[in-house]
Amino acid sequence: MTPDTVIAFDAYGTLLSTESIAQKLADHFGQEQGSLLAASWRRIQLEYTWRLNSMQQYVPFSVITRNSLKHALAESRLSLDGSATEKLMEAYDSLSTFPDVSPALEAIAKTEGINAVVFSNGTDSMVGNSVKSSPDLGPHASVFKDIITVEEVQCFKPHPKVYFHLAEKVGKSHDAMEEIWLISGNPFDIVGARAVGMKACWVDRAGNGWTDELVQGASGKPTVVVKGLDGVLDAVRRHFK
Ligand code: LAC
Repeated sequence: MTPDTVIAFDAYGTLLSTESIAQKLADHFGQEQGSLLAASWRRIQLEYTWRLNSMQQYVPFSVITRNSLKHALAESRLSLDGSATEKLMEAYDSLSTFPDVSPALEAIAKTEGINAVVFSNGTDSMVGNSVKSSPDLGPHASVFKDIITVEEVQCFKPHPKVYFHLAEKVGKSHDAMEEIWLISGNPFDIVGARAVGMKACWVDRAGNGWTDELVQGASGKPTVVVKGLDGVLDAVRRHFK
């Protein structure tokens, strides 16, 4: 590690499991439908961010999350009343972490010379709540030197602006993007970071291997692949040898 190694952790799908909301949906619709809904909710949520980027419009991620739930429910001919929707939105602020997250953050806390930050599409309030108040992430909140969101730049990943915003926030110039690591479970985020010259570590928890063919060649692939966050420190260290 160099003293100024920046490791930026994506939030949803990397630290926080968007699938963990399936349990809450299952309380209303049963296990199978709950899992299907959680997956389509997430798909539509991301699709909305990409559509808004293309339209050069911005709607906060909290609103996108609420509206994409409505869309996912309507597609399955289902509905939820106002108070159940409110409870789900609250649950979104305390999603569970993946099991590999806690040990990895403990190890990072003990390692010198790492500037670990959270870097997310979410709003300051959503991500701040998730990191500070979630029973899973809260105890590790002090590992993160900053929580950087897209709220200030008003567009979403993978727009280059958001990765340059991250660089500015961690005190790196736009021509030193290779000094920043993105850690993400989202292939579209990895490809976005690589496109602006960042290093990127893809968390392939399912072990399915890289399938994204959007950008050909090394710049369209992660710099390293790990199975869980517990592999991140070693992977980044090996890269410096
Ligand atoms: C985030 C999205 C990728 O947290 O889920 O930025």
